[in-house]
Amino acid sequence: MCGIVGYIGEKQAPHILLDGLRKLEYRGYDSAGIVTINENRLQLIKAEGKVDILESRLLKENPRGTVGIGHTRWATHGKPSDENSHPHLSNDCKVAVVHNGIIENYMDIKEELVAEGYKFYSETDTEVIVHLIKKYMDGNFEEAFLKTVERLNGSYAVCAVAAAEPDKILCARKDSPLVVGLGSGENFIASDIPAILRYTKNCYILEDGEFAVITRDKVVVKDSKGNLIEKKLQEITWNSEAAEKGGYEHFMLKEINEQPEVFKNTLRGRLKEKSVDFSELKIPEEDIKAWKKIFIVACGTAYHAGLVGKTVFEKLLKIPVEVDIASEYRYRDPLVDKNTLVIVVSQSGETADTLAALRYSKEAGAKVLAITNVVGSSIARESDYVAYIWAGPEISVASTKAYTTMLITEYLLAIYFAEVKGTMKEEEIYPLVEGLRNIPTNAVQVLENQMYKRIAEDLKNETDAFYLGRGLDWAAALEGVLKLKEISYVHAEAYAAGELKHGTLALITEDTHVITINTQKNISDKTLSNVQEVKARGAKVIIIAQGNDETSKKYAEKVLYIPEMPDLLTPVITAIPLQLIAYYTAVAKGTNVDQPRNLAKSVTVE
Ligand code: AGP
Repeated sequence: MCGIVGYIGEKQAPHILLDGLRKLEYRGYDSAGIVTINENRLQLIKAEGKVDILESRLLKENPRGTVGIGHTRWATHGKPSDENSHPHLSNDCKVAVVHNGIIENYMDIKEELVAEGYKFYSETDTEVIVHLIKKYMDGNFEEAFLKTVERLNGSYAVCAVAAAEPDKILCARKDSPLVVGLGSGENFIASDIPAILRYTKNCYILEDGEFAVITRDKVVVKDSKGNLIEKKLQEITWNSEAAEKGGYEHFMLKEINEQPEVFKNTLRGRLKEKSVDFSELKIPEEDIKAWKKIFIVACGTAYHAGLVGKTVFEKLLKIPVEVDIASEYRYRDPLVDKNTLVIVVSQSGETADTLAALRYSKEAGAKVLAITNVVGSSIARESDYVAYIWAGPEISVASTKAYTTMLITEYLLAIYFAEVKGTMKEEEIYPLVEGLRNIPTNAVQVLENQMYKRIAEDLKNETDAFYLGRGLDWAAALEGVLKLKEISYVHAEAYAAGELKHGTLALITEDTHVITINTQKNISDKTLSNVQEVKARGAKVIIIAQGNDETSKKYAEKVLYIPEMPDLLTPVITAIPLQLIAYYTAVAKGTNVDQPRNLAKSVTVE
């Protein structure tokens, strides 16, 4: 996904911008560029490909200037190319713009501008912004910028510089994140905090409709009508070390290994001796008691967390729970009203479809509870209540610790709501509370297993694999195959084990790899019968089972044991072997683990 960084100060901007762009690489991108203002002239360098390519161009061309903006682009309008990469320049090369998001009415504006003689050099929607600024530039950059932003429909985080007013950067946002970092005699802009964390921990988070004028010594924020806004200073508590790989080969491996510690953070302050306290949410108890239905809405891995949540909330709260993919939910007129709680789940808090689902739900009268990782994200800000997963920055595109902490947060919420609603007995709740307390230790135990690499060595030569499970194990299998597919590019299917013989069994042949998750005691026999069906066709079976399960051994070539725990909680721990199998398969195949092809960390466009 696109990333923005900007700098104005006394230092040379190019290397600061380049450093910021490197910190944004994890978002996924296909090209990068910067522009600086040097002696009232714009110096532009941009190129398709990785930031390394941009760096070699910078070394050759040695741009100068203490003001500049930079961008990493993830193609939406127009293919990845030098021309389509940002920044974009006005025809007279006096104004430059970088932009994240999508301008929905760009075709109309483009026609108007072309008719007026403006020449376009790219296929992007963004280029209309820079020509509009130029068109309105009548001696006042700020006014021209504001007039331009008023014309834009869609989503944008946009930053602009002009040679005529070389000591300022202008920026504005709508539905796309933008933060202003505050320094001494210097200020920064970024779409994501890691880009500027090395330089400052103090920032303003811009809201939709806000516009900022950034100079070396001052940051002025205004609303769309030009009224001054008193922004609250936010202190970022992440250190830059937390956003680095910390000695691991990949961010993904680091993040998988962080899980035991991260789980403690998620549980901290919420898990009590024999109960859960989630009163931090400040949801009135009478509202909790009034909910008749829950919707869980999310995308990708967060959706898989929602599938686990469905079982957990239904079991504990005794009310129906529906789970929806956000891109489906937003267009299917779901039945939501004031007695429905809508839970949106999103690591980034910026996923466009999930944000749209949130807005739909609020308009329909429902209260929205966000489960998210990013403080100050759009989803966190627009929801009625926010339960943070406290996973810390997740850099790898493949979500790992965010998924498992989403699950833990769902358990905590379900137990808390059940206590308020009185739908569970104390003796039913207590084992779950104890189970959650043991979760960090259980995670340490599965991380120590040495078998994952060996399984990956076999999987790396496969074109297809099958994951089976029933109930919660099926939900876990769905997340397991997503991990395998997205980073190792091995095609895999997750099947509800009982459904296999209704068609897909035809694909099981000699040596097909079948990973079966078998942790749910009440349906274990049924799952093992399905395992026998695939074994009879010559499949190679690996089973993930709880530590006391002797039967699984009879049916599998390998059994990966997880510690014993309440069946309801196993998805948190079964996720870890599945993450590591996917990780080592990708490493064995030599794929780009942290930035898989075609994917982006934060999907802020529809
Ligand atoms: C999973 O590994 C992916 N990164 C992806 O499916 C992700 O979970 C999805 O795009 C939703 O992102 P979010 O949690 O930031 O909303």
